[in-house]
Amino acid sequence: MSAPSYSRRGFLALAGAGTAAVALAGCSIGGKKASPVPADGAEVMAAEAARKRAGAGVKDVAITAAPFTVDLGGLTSPTWAYGSAVPGGEIRVKAGDLVRARFTNRLPQATTIHWHGIALRNDMDGVPGMTQQVVPPEGTFEYEFTAPDPGTFWFHPHVGLHLDRGLYAPLIVEDPAEPGRYDREYTVVLDDWTDGVGQSPEAAMEDLRAGRGPHAAHQAGGGPRSDVLNSAGGDVSYPLFLLNGRHSSAPVELAVRKGERIRLRLINAGADTPFRVAVGGHQMTVTHADGFPVVPVTVDALIIAMAERYDVTVTVAGDGVFPLIAVAEAKADEAMAVLRSGSGAVPDPGVRPAELNGRMLELSDLVAAEPVRLAAAKPDRTYKVALGGGDAGYVWTLNGKPHGQNKPLEVRQGERVRLDFTNSTTMFHPMHLHGHTFQIINPGGVAGARKDTTIVRPNEPVSVEFIADNPGQWMIHCHNNYHQEGGMMLTLSYVTDRPLTSAERASPLGLVCDWLAPNIG
Ligand code: C2O
Ligand code: CU
Repeated sequence: MSAPSYSRRGFLALAGAGTAAVALAGCSIGGKKASPVPADGAEVMAAEAARKRAGAGVKDVAITAAPFTVDLGGLTSPTWAYGSAVPGGEIRVKAGDLVRARFTNRLPQATTIHWHGIALRNDMDGVPGMTQQVVPPEGTFEYEFTAPDPGTFWFHPHVGLHLDRGLYAPLIVEDPAEPGRYDREYTVVLDDWTDGVGQSPEAAMEDLRAGRGPHAAHQAGGGPRSDVLNSAGGDVSYPLFLLNGRHSSAPVELAVRKGERIRLRLINAGADTPFRVAVGGHQMTVTHADGFPVVPVTVDALIIAMAERYDVTVTVAGDGVFPLIAVAEAKADEAMAVLRSGSGAVPDPGVRPAELNGRMLELSDLVAAEPVRLAAAKPDRTYKVALGGGDAGYVWTLNGKPHGQNKPLEVRQGERVRLDFTNSTTMFHPMHLHGHTFQIINPGGVAGARKDTTIVRPNEPVSVEFIADNPGQWMIHCHNNYHQEGGMMLTLSYVTDRPLTSAERASPLGLVCDWLAPNIG
């Protein structure tokens, strides 16, 4: 069986609109008939209205996705980008602000924008065929949503392998109550790069499906491994790794002063690469995980998987030049920036500061800061999410089947929901839930960090809990773009007892049960 592709599913969803009324009636929860909450349903609008704050600001931005030739540091690469930059221009708002982004698609393919990590209204979430229709070439779409929580977020397409081109940018939501225990901040975006320099992402996917490349090697027990991830580092070979759009031989320089406390907002925008990050001659104090504050923890190094964010502070130790190094974990090469507080030559990209092998951040080190910590409570509903696949044909599964064939996880608004991830594959997977920030539940029921993406290592279960307070239809998926495209997705479906209106039944959105009708019990 071949993996369903996004375009195929998108087509089915759009083409299936006429049969929606029949299929929607087929959803059930706990044996009781119920309807999926439409992406633009009344429940979604009520949740958005509740997020609105008096006096909130409005941020109007225009975003164009288009072909662009990027200079990666004396090496140019044709690619696709948001505007004329990789990463795309940072959007900065205050918590509670309304973001209005007028999107224009000048790519030769249909695409969407997904606002990663934001608890936003479901019909702005950018999942094609589920929360919106794709934006065709030369088409436009007006994204408009309240950004309720402060933190480091980012945005990227949610179609095919578009993410593995230059289409990504930071979305920083400032905290009006920020204690501001830092003097200066920089956003640091990491990426793995092949488009325009090596093979195209689509060619890489073809290789994987045909059993060629690094994935086949590590499935056979060979190739480099990460002790920290208990896994290979990824499935694709990249010629370059980037930090803020530059390869390591032409690094960006971040100006700092001796004694200053610098906040670094680290974002991994890579498609297939976890990075091991350290600053030569310095420790890092982790203050936020996926945007949400944690009880600060000081470490020498951390691993940041695809789509994760960590905010760290570093106190500049002296006058000089310090490498901020991000080594591609269990792969060759690195991305690098330079913290410069004095004169001196740029470090050689081959530099490997001792901190890289010093005290490493563990997920279990992190505890959500008190104001964002979920109080212990018994979940109303627990679901198993079993990660599988990766064998011949490169089909990846959740709960035994690729997306389009697996059964949605149905929840009701207001429930506390627990997800128990298990991983029987030989790979680590950064698992992401849209529209919510769950809380890691460490062994013994101990509350961990709030996150929206978490690493699940082979044979090491991870449990998370969240409050189902953002109705709609949401993706749960692996943020390895190749695994995702290989089927490693599942739907979290809010359901309601109210009958859908005829307009809702006719809508091309909210067709989750339509796609999945054959598997609904
Ligand atoms: Cu960055 Cu579906 O997510
Ligand atoms: Cu994966």
